[in-house]
Amino acid sequence: MTRGKFITLEGMDGAGKSTHLTWIPDFLAARGVTVRLTREPGGTALGERLRELMLDKNQKLHAETEALLMFAARREHLDKVILPALDAGNWVVCDRFTDATFAYQSGGSGLPWERIVALESWVQGSLQPDLTLYFDVPSEIGKARTQAAREPDRFEQEGRSFFDRVRESYFRRAREMPHRMQIIDGTVALDHVKQSVENKIISNCFK
Ligand code: TYD
Repeated sequence: MTRGKFITLEGMDGAGKSTHLTWIPDFLAARGVTVRLTREPGGTALGERLRELMLDKNQKLHAETEALLMFAARREHLDKVILPALDAGNWVVCDRFTDATFAYQSGGSGLPWERIVALESWVQGSLQPDLTLYFDVPSEIGKARTQAAREPDRFEQEGRSFFDRVRESYFRRAREMPHRMQIIDGTVALDHVKQSVENKIISNCFK
């Protein structure tokens, strides 16, 4: 049995990640792949309950609590969903993963980078996504888009400098792991973004 591929999507709120998640599973299925679509925080019964707590606007958690809960949820997610699916030969498409903890809890909220590195290696060992599509937009564009679209969740309420640090941290991850992390310019026309996502998936996962 060939192990499936693990693809994650990342980006600041408003970068277009959710829009592109609507067609990517069908695009893969059309190439004969069985796809398991999932998300973080979430993806399991425990993870979805933790998600509700963590995104609640009325509750401000300590950044360390947040990081630990993200990794607790992730441990369950790996054990119950991601690893079994990959082992069965299915491909996993995950809406956010560990890069988001580096970006938001370290970059945004200021936890030392090395703490997240330690949690990552504890929970994941050497496991990394095969491909990460990082949708990039400047923070003011992301913020304007989310404000127009819906009520902000707790993270979406943060200010401009928080999102500038989130973005800088995504770039840092991309510099550290350039082979798997692909930067997609989320400011150009939707058709162009789609074309570039298709190209990245084909060249990274089907060749
Ligand atoms: P998001 O995918 O943006 O949810 P939606 O688009 O449905 O609102 O993710 C929810 C939030 O969780 C997002 O603002 C980033 C945050 N987050 C972290 O802070 N750390 C993490 O490790 C993860 C996975 C997400």
